[in-house]
Amino acid sequence: MKILVTGGAGFIGSAFIRMVLGAQEPVRGARVLNLDKLTYAGNPENLAAVAGDGRYRFARVDLCDAPAVEAIFEGFRPEVVVHFAAESHVDRSILSPEPVFETNLRGTFTLLEAVRKRGVARFVHISTDEVYGSIPAPEQADEGFPLRPSSPYSASKAGSDLLALSYFTTYGVPVTVTRASNNYGPCQFPEKLIPLMISNAMEDKPLPVYGDGLQVRDWLHVEDHCRAIVAVIEKSRAGEIYNIGGNRSLPNLDVIRKILEATSKREELIRMVADRPGHDRRYALTSAKLTAETGWAPVMEFERGLEATVGWYRDNPGWVERVKSGEYQRFYEINYGAR
Ligand code: NAD
Ligand code: DAU
Repeated sequence: MKILVTGGAGFIGSAFIRMVLGAQEPVRGARVLNLDKLTYAGNPENLAAVAGDGRYRFARVDLCDAPAVEAIFEGFRPEVVVHFAAESHVDRSILSPEPVFETNLRGTFTLLEAVRKRGVARFVHISTDEVYGSIPAPEQADEGFPLRPSSPYSASKAGSDLLALSYFTTYGVPVTVTRASNNYGPCQFPEKLIPLMISNAMEDKPLPVYGDGLQVRDWLHVEDHCRAIVAVIEKSRAGEIYNIGGNRSLPNLDVIRKILEATSKREELIRMVADRPGHDRRYALTSAKLTAETGWAPVMEFERGLEATVGWYRDNPGWVERVKSGEYQRFYEINYGAR
C-alpha cells in the first residue's frame, strides 16, 4: 500500500511512519512518501530509523504549493493519504494567527484538490478534540457534539474538518476525520506541556503554569494514537468522524507534579504565570465509536508512558539541545522573555 504522509517529520507523523515501516508491519507492504515543509517543528532526526529504508521517500514541499503537491501525486500515485501537516501549537496561533490559516486551511484545501483530481482509496484527515471547545464536567464529547473552537488553531482545524467532509459529500472523496486528544511521547517539540516541563525540569528552569493549572486534558500516548490511525485506514468507514482518546483525564498541575517526581525535582520550580487567552478549561471525549467499529483501545497506562517519555528526553540530550537552539531561542526570548 502506497501511503502519502503529510507532516511526517513532526511529532505524531514521524511516530506513524516509524510504526508503519517498523518490524511489526501493521500495514502489510507499506511504502511511504513523506511530504513535509520542514518548519521549525519538522525534524528529519525523528526519521533516522527509516532514512535508509528503500520503502521510505522524503519530499520537502509546502502544502500550499499546488503544482508541487500535484507533482507528488503524479509521481507517487498514493493509495492512502494521512494528513498530519499543520501548525499545531495553540500559543503560537494566538501570538501569530496567519500561519495556521495558511497551512491548516489553505494547505488542506490544496491537498484535497489534488486528491479530488487523482483519486485515492482513503484520505485520513488528522484532527483534534479541541474543535469541540471546553466541555463542562461530567460531559464527554462524541462525534456529534457541537463544534465550539476557542483559538485560531482549533478554529482552523474545525474549518479544515468541515472542508474535508464536504469533499466526501460533494465529490465522493473517501474522507475520514479523526479527532484525538492530547498526545505525548518521544520526539515532541518542547513547546507543548509535557516535553516543555520535562526539559525545563531537567535544566532546573522554571515550569510556567498558565492560570490556576486546574485545566483538564485527556492524555493519549502517541503510539496508541498511531495504532488507532492504522485501524482507521483498515477498518473505518469513509464520510465518518472518529474520536481517539486516551481515557486519562488529569489537571495540568497533576501532570506537572508527576514530571517533577519522575525527574527528581522539587515543587519550587513551579511558576504560576498569566493564563492563556481563551484557555479551554476541560477537554473530554469518548472513543466508543472507534472501539465498537475497529476494536481499537488505548493500552498505554499514563504513568508508564510518562516514565518512558521522561527516559527518552533524558537519553536524548543532543536532540533536545538541537531543537532548542536557533528559532526556539528567538521565539521564547521575544514572546516569553519576561518569565
Ligand atoms: P508537529 O507540529 O509536531 O508537526 C507538524 C509537521 O507539519 C511538521 O513536520 C511541519 O514541518 C509540517 N508542516 C507544517 N506546515 C506545513 C506545510 N505548510 N506544508 C508541509 N508540511 C508542513 O505536529 P503534531 O503534534 O505531530 O500534530 C500532527 C497533527 O495531529 C496536526 O494536524 C495536529 O492538529 C493533530 N493533533 C495533534 C495533537 C497533539 O497533541 N500534538 C493532538 C490531536 C491532533
Ligand atoms: O487536545 C489536542 C491538542 O493538544 C492538539 O490539537 C494540539 O495540537 C496540541 O498542541 C495540544 O493542545 P493544548 O493547547 O492542549 O496543548 P499544550 O501542550 O500547549 O497545553 C496543554 C495544557 O497545558 C493547556 O491547558 C495549557 C497548559 N500549559 C501549556 C504550556 C505550553 C501550561 O500551563 N504551561 C505551558 O507552558
